[in-house]
Formats: sequence, C-alpha cells, structure tokens
Amino acid sequence: MSRQPRIAVVGSANVDLVTFTERFPAPGETIFGQEFDMGFGGKGANQAVAARLCGAQVSMVARLGADLFGPATIQNFESHQIDTSHVRVLEGVSSGVAPIFVEPSGENRILVVKGANDRLMPADVDLAAPLLKQADCIILQFEIPLETVYYTIRFARANGIKCVLNPAPGQPVDLEELARVDYFIPNESEAETIAGKPVKTADEAKACAQYFLERGVPRVIITLGVNGALLAGDGVLEFIPAYTVDTKDTTGAGDAFIGSFATFLAEGVPEREAIAQACLYASLSTSRVGTQKSFLSRPELEMHRKTAKPRPSTL
Ligand code: ATP
Ligand code: RIB
Repeated sequence: MSRQPRIAVVGSANVDLVTFTERFPAPGETIFGQEFDMGFGGKGANQAVAARLCGAQVSMVARLGADLFGPATIQNFESHQIDTSHVRVLEGVSSGVAPIFVEPSGENRILVVKGANDRLMPADVDLAAPLLKQADCIILQFEIPLETVYYTIRFARANGIKCVLNPAPGQPVDLEELARVDYFIPNESEAETIAGKPVKTADEAKACAQYFLERGVPRVIITLGVNGALLAGDGVLEFIPAYTVDTKDTTGAGDAFIGSFATFLAEGVPEREAIAQACLYASLSTSRVGTQKSFLSRPELEMHRKTAKPRPSTL
C-alpha cells in the first residue's frame, strides 16, 4: 500500500433487522421466517466500514437517534477506529432502521426508515468542514436529505476533494448538481430510476451510462450484481466482471464495492484495477451473511486475490 488514504463519509447509519425467509408473505398472509439477524448497517456506515477494513483512515459525519441504537452505533464505529467526532445523537427522533428480507437465492428486499439520518443538514457539513478538508475523498449516498448531498458535492468541488456519489436509494434528482462529482456509481435499478431508462441488457447499460455522461457526469460506474460493473467515461466503456462465489446474502454488496473502490483509488491504484479489486471485495461479501459483518479485512482480500475466478457475464 503506497500511503494510507483518508476517506470521509457524509451519510447514513441504520440498524438492519434481517429476516431470512423461503418466500415473501402475500397481502394479509402470515408465514414463518427461517432466521433473524440484527446488525449495523446504513449505506453510509457500511461504506465507511468497508473503507476502514480496506485500510483507509475514515471519518464519519452522521446523525443518530437517542434510542438503544444510537450509542451502540457510535460504539460500533469506534470498534473499527472510525472517527466519530461528527457523529451526533439527536433527541426526539429514532435512529435509522432497515427491515430487510432475504430469499434463499441471497436476493434482498429492503425498507429504510431514515429517522435521524434525515436531520443531517448542510450546517452540519459546515461544522465538520475542518475535518472534511483533510480527506482525499468524500463519499455520499441518498439516505440523507438531498440538499445536504448537493451542498457537500459543492463543498468537495470548492476544496479540490475527490467526491464519489452512490445515488442510493434511487430517486428523482437534479442531475446538474450531481455532475460535479468525480464518480457517479448507481446500481442497475438506481440508474433506471434516475435516467428513466431500462438497464436489463449490456446495450441498455451502455446507453444509460451514456445518458449520464451527456449530462456532464465525468465518470459513471453502473454496478450490475453478478455481472460486475460497467465503467464509462470520456473514451472509456468497459465491462469489468464480478467473481464466482457461493452467494448467501447480497445485502451490502454495493456498499462493499463503493467503500473499497474509494480506498483503492485514493491509494493510487489505477482506475480499472481499482474497479476489479472492488468487484472482488464486493463479490466475496456476498458469500457471508449480514451487511457490515460480511465485509472482509484487507489481508483476507489479498488471500482470496490469488485464487479468485472472474465470473462470465450473463448480460
Ligand atoms: P445491495 O443493494 O445488495 O447492497 P447493490 O444492488 O447496490 O447491492 P450490486 O450491483 O448488486 O449492488 O453489487 C455490487 C457488486 O457486488 C457487483 O458489482 C459485484 O461485483 C458484486 N456482486 C453482487 N452480487 C453478486 C453475486 N451474486 N455474485 C458475485 N458478485 C456479486
Ligand atoms: O445497502 C445496504 C443497506 O441499505 C443496509 O445496510 C440498509 O440499512 C440500507 O441502508
């Protein structure tokens, strides 16, 4: 590793309430689930933990509720040695929570209640400005107010800090504001929602990436689940494969990709290689159950690198 990168995440923290079930209940029906698991989640927190496990120095800017989950979430960040000087507990609001349902294939359905995440405001970014200015890269998602996302993108640009945006969960946005980021990284469904275009085939993925480039986004990476990722930019259009693993739970795979990619890039790993390594890191996370707890350490990743097999695309 050339030097320890500094990553800041301005984003969400949730507690994930995960039920493993053979199938989803029909409306009005009650069925038995197979297993239950509770763990720390939230796209921002997951990406922070992935970046930390990959070797970055990480700071988190987030808001939590004054409930059981708030202090426990701070403790979780601290157990990973993530800086929590700008993680605050707010009275009168719940922490973010995410009931998640996972089918035997590993596929999930997620409902997010934003709670305190929705109270992370532009003024909080100003408060954290001295810390944020030390970062090589700021990572953002869409589980906090959009005005805070737009504000932070402008802040990063004004201060010459790289900015990686994961527009998740997908929602209608002002693409002009987003065009100021360095990397725009949606998954298939987020890309579809934001562009209003289907992303079911390789050609559709390319056309969708082109749509974002035409609107001024400099670099687009659409993550494609088992099919890896599509990188698009000026003169670049390339599919990069995922890896063959025994998938048990895909929850958090996108976050594993984003946190590890930002770290590798900030370390100085060339872009294409950083994406390939992030695909491996994310693929491996799907072979374990849970969100943050499915993420590997850097030495574990290096160990798998020697034997990992890229997975042929089905697109
Ligand atoms: P999630 O919402 O489940 O956290 P996501 O939908 O945001 O994930 P995906 O595009 O599904 O993100 O996955 C991100 C990366 O994880 C992919 O680019 C791929 O490298 C890896 N990945 C995801 N699913 C699988 C799988 N079933 N097998 C192997 N790799 C996978
Ligand atoms: O990307 C996975 C995450 O989405 C979960 O941890 C859940 O909290 C939701 O934010």
